Amino acid sequence: MQITVTVNGTSHTREVEARLLLIHFLRDDLRLTGSHWGCDTSNCGACVVWLDETPVKSCTVLAAMADGRRVRTVEDLARGGVLDPVQRGFAECHGLQCGFCTAGMMMTARWLLDHHPEPTAAEVREALSGQLCRCTGYENIVRSVLWASEQEAVLARGGDPPEPPADRRDGGDTASPRPASPASGRDAS
Ligand code: FES
Ligand code: FES
Repeated sequence: MQITVTVNGTSHTREVEARLLLIHFLRDDLRLTGSHWGCDTSNCGACVVWLDETPVKSCTVLAAMADGRRVRTVEDLARGGVLDPVQRGFAECHGLQCGFCTAGMMMTARWLLDHHPEPTAAEVREALSGQLCRCTGYENIVRSVLWASEQEAVLARGGDPPEPPADRRDGGDTASPRPASPASGRDAS
């Protein structure tokens, strides 16, 4: 069957098998390999992309179901060579180790901040609760999302973005937890 899907603003028309999953369409047909295929059983969330502005696990969606619709993947987060604040947050706060879960985490985080710009740590954890990370213990992922939220709030007010955590500035052990910004009142723990 023939489908036409707009992915990251570009329309793609392809012949696909009716049983083809969206994650495989993205990775194998379009060569957008930023989204990962982790479990194929709707457990891990490594495959999360947006389908018409809503995060979905693309291993549970048929490519045919995306026909005539819009898909956004992690490749669309950075614009004009500038990282999205969520991407910067993950870099600044050491929100990843192996990186396998990261694309899905960031797509959900971006959606959260677009709809709820100043979430609490508990709300970040709730938003990401359908996604698994085997490396980080989640602490730094939550911290990364809160960092992005703070940065966007400050930039919206015309201020300077927050500094990276002290452990990053000092070149120390980046795996060490850092205290959350007292100003935020949104402790990541
Ligand atoms: S690959 Fe989709 S949830 Fe794990
Ligand atoms: S960073 Fe390795 S699974 Fe999350």
